[in-house]
Amino acid sequence: MKPVFIALDFPTAAKTFEFLKPFLGIKNLFVKVGMELFYREGPEIIKKLRHNNINVFLDLKLHDIPHTVEKAAFQLAKLDVQYTTIHALGGGKMIRAAKDGLTNGSKNYHNKLPKLLAVTQLTSTSAEQLNVEEQINVSMTESVAHLANIAYQSGADGVISSALEDKFIHEEVKKDLLCINPGIRLNDNDNDDQKRVVTPTKARQLGSDGIVVGRSITQAYNPVETYKMIFSQINGGKQYESIY
Ligand code: C5P
Repeated sequence: MKPVFIALDFPTAAKTFEFLKPFLGIKNLFVKVGMELFYREGPEIIKKLRHNNINVFLDLKLHDIPHTVEKAAFQLAKLDVQYTTIHALGGGKMIRAAKDGLTNGSKNYHNKLPKLLAVTQLTSTSAEQLNVEEQINVSMTESVAHLANIAYQSGADGVISSALEDKFIHEEVKKDLLCINPGIRLNDNDNDDQKRVVTPTKARQLGSDGIVVGRSITQAYNPVETYKMIFSQINGGKQYESIY
């Protein structure tokens, strides 16, 4: 089953649970908590989600010196989340430090080790931005694959990339490195600030191992139906038996 992580980009716990109420009967629900919600509500929001048996991807995109990231990851392991993120641009040593922090923290707090995902290039980054602003003079795919390789060599379980890069990562870096993809849009959606976007069906065809979907679900007329449709598309038609 390929997870659809619903990006809970809401300002408060109250708004989050108001949105989640119709989803609470769904088995194997995966959500992503980002900076907005976590900075407002802190660890309490994670506790509430876990209390409802929801799988949590805590997306804080750590990027600092290795020592600081290791200590942060150690504490993060107390939260009992299932996935978390660091920026691959922080380098191999930093990624390894994050993994060590999570491993030791999970042992210390008696929690299962969360999967560590490395953000390669943000899906809002265009090729022009990569070349002109960041002065990285290779193609987007080459940069993403290079960062994915560093992440893999340094102990990450997977990467965050655009689905457009998944095939290349699976072929050139590692077949079973998890490629989790944001930048998902349904045909009739606005792209908003995202640049490298694909539909859920296309993501599946490109080899995606799971998708992150925010506004296409949270701002839909019927969020639960939209979630089910997207779940079905990324899982190739397999749907309700794994949801209910
Ligand atoms: O609303 P939308 O579907 O664009 O939301 C995408 C979510 O995925 C946001 O929470 C954003 O922070 C996150 N994300 C992303 N690109 C990355 C990593 C995470 O869009 N490379």
